[in-house]
Amino acid sequence: MKEKTQFTLDRHRCIKCGRCVNTCAGMVLKFGEDGYPEMQEFERFGWRGCWRCQHCLAVCPQGAISIFGKKPEDSLPPVPEEMGAFMERLVVNRRTCRRYLDQNVDTQIISRILSAMSAAPTGGNAMNVEYTVIDDKERVKEIWNKAYPVMEEKAKQHIYTHSFSDFYYRKMKESEKSIRKDDLLFCGAPHLFIAHSNCTGKWAEDTKVNCIIATAYFELLCNAYGLGTIIMSYSSEVLNELVPEARRMLNIPPDHYTGLIVGFGYPEIPYARGVQKDRGNKIHRYSNKKQDKKRN
Ligand SMILES: Cc1cc2nc3c(=O)[nH]c(=O)nc-3n(C[C@H](O)[C@H](O)[C@H](O)COP(=O)(O)O)c2cc1C
Ligand code: SF4
Ligand code: SF4
Repeated sequence: MKEKTQFTLDRHRCIKCGRCVNTCAGMVLKFGEDGYPEMQEFERFGWRGCWRCQHCLAVCPQGAISIFGKKPEDSLPPVPEEMGAFMERLVVNRRTCRRYLDQNVDTQIISRILSAMSAAPTGGNAMNVEYTVIDDKERVKEIWNKAYPVMEEKAKQHIYTHSFSDFYYRKMKESEKSIRKDDLLFCGAPHLFIAHSNCTGKWAEDTKVNCIIATAYFELLCNAYGLGTIIMSYSSEVLNELVPEARRMLNIPPDHYTGLIVGFGYPEIPYARGVQKDRGNKIHRYSNKKQDKKRN
């Protein structure tokens, strides 16, 4: 079946610069005989047609393109150059937070962050990652009440998740006296965020990566709003491997991958500065020879 979508061009604004045609990932935009861009018919959305990426709307310097009912004037403006320094600070100063205030985060802040999360990238613009968010501390407590005692009981029988052992569990228990404040499972985080998706079939690995990328975007957004975050693989393991009934409470479909849980909330102990991680041998740059010499 041939499809067309709501691509609208304002010919009074278009200057025929071709940016939209040369950006269209689906290659469904072409110049018409009159030199204006037009949308071709296509077979279906995705690789065989329009990717629904909205790059045409975003790239047009004249704001001449509307698509899927979205108008260019409703888009956020581009990031000003000076934001680079803020972003650098955000990335460097973002640190794992393991102690939280026992307080819900302002729901408006959570809504803003989640609304921005729809823009996290996915392979092929599949947009197939779902977000489950527990934005009330009492509901987190309900899940905790279900999972924590089972986890403890299993530990007494030396039953752990695949990455744990007697030693690690003992260390985690010890951490409850200081860094994790009585909660080795969720670190007392008042809220949880889980990016999940059906990761079966040919694109399973890519879909997992999409969830992980979404997790990283979420973490940065939270930190930009002054919230603390912790990415936890252990809590996810507990819900997946030891207490499936707690996972069911989250209504995440059983065939969905949930590798990471992000705990977030107002930090009890904010960071005063960034860390200075050793770059070691991590960065490999190939520049022109003169620049290479200068660096060495
Ligand atoms: C994939 C991943 C899984 C993690 N799982 C846990 C976890 O289960 N428990 C925990 O306390 N921290 C977890 N962390 C946090 C790391 O331990 C943390 O990054 C490390 O302590 C360094 O601190 P930083 O995030 O401030 O650089 C995880 C981090 C990542 C990226
Ligand atoms: S990018 Fe905008 S101005 Fe340029 S050709 Fe496309 S619609 Fe016209
Ligand atoms: S949404 Fe993306 S793929 Fe579709 S027409 Fe616009 S640029 Fe091309």
